[in-house]
Amino acid sequence: MDVKSLIRSIPNYPKPGIIFRDITTLWQDARGFRRAVDELVWPYAGDRIDKVVGIEARGFILGGAVAHQLSVGFVPVRKKGKLPWQTEQQEYELEYGTDVMEIHQDAIVAGENVLIVDDLLATGGTAEAAVKLIRRMAGEIVGAAFIVELPALGGRERLDTLGIRVRSLCQFE
Ligand code: PRP
Ligand code: ADE
Repeated sequence: MDVKSLIRSIPNYPKPGIIFRDITTLWQDARGFRRAVDELVWPYAGDRIDKVVGIEARGFILGGAVAHQLSVGFVPVRKKGKLPWQTEQQEYELEYGTDVMEIHQDAIVAGENVLIVDDLLATGGTAEAAVKLIRRMAGEIVGAAFIVELPALGGRERLDTLGIRVRSLCQFE
C-alpha cells in the first residue's frame, strides 16, 4: 500500500486552476495513517529529538501522531490570536497579503532539538515562519518533514537556503 495513492486530488479547489491534494482520505485509512507516520519517523531514528512542532491546522493532526510515536512533546505553531499565553510572532506571506504565526514563549527551551512537521510543503513560506520562531527561541532544527511536496513551488530550495533539511513522502508536479 502506497501513501501517495491514498491522497485524493480535487481539481479547481479552492479556486480555478488549483489541484487540491486532500489528505483526509489518507487520515481516514487506518493502515495509511500508520504507514505515513512510520515512514516520516524512521529516518530520524538516530537523531535526538526533544520536541515536534506542528503547524496549524493540518500539521496538528500529523505532528501530534509523530510526537506520540517519538515519545516527545508537541508544540503548536498557530495563526495569530489563538494561543492564550505570551507568544513570539512571525509574519509570513500568503498568496494575497500576509498573516502572522505564533508560538508560546516557553514552548521551546534553548538548545532543544526540534522537528518541524506539516502535511504539505508548497512555497515554504509557512514553514519558514516556523523556522524563524524556533530559532528566535534558540531551538536547534533537526529537519522539516511533510507528507506532500509540490516541487514546482520551490519550498525545498527556500528551506535549503535556511539550512533546513526537508523530507517528504511524495511529490505532485
Ligand atoms: C497549507 C498547508 C501548509 C501550507 C503550505 O495550510 O497545510 O501549512 O498551506 O503552504 P506554503 O508552503 O506555500 O506556505 P493552510 O495555510 O491552507 O492552512 P490550514 O492547514 O489551516 O488549512
Ligand atoms: N496548500 C497549498 N497548496 C495546496 C494544494 N495544492 N493542496 C493542498 N493544500 C495546499
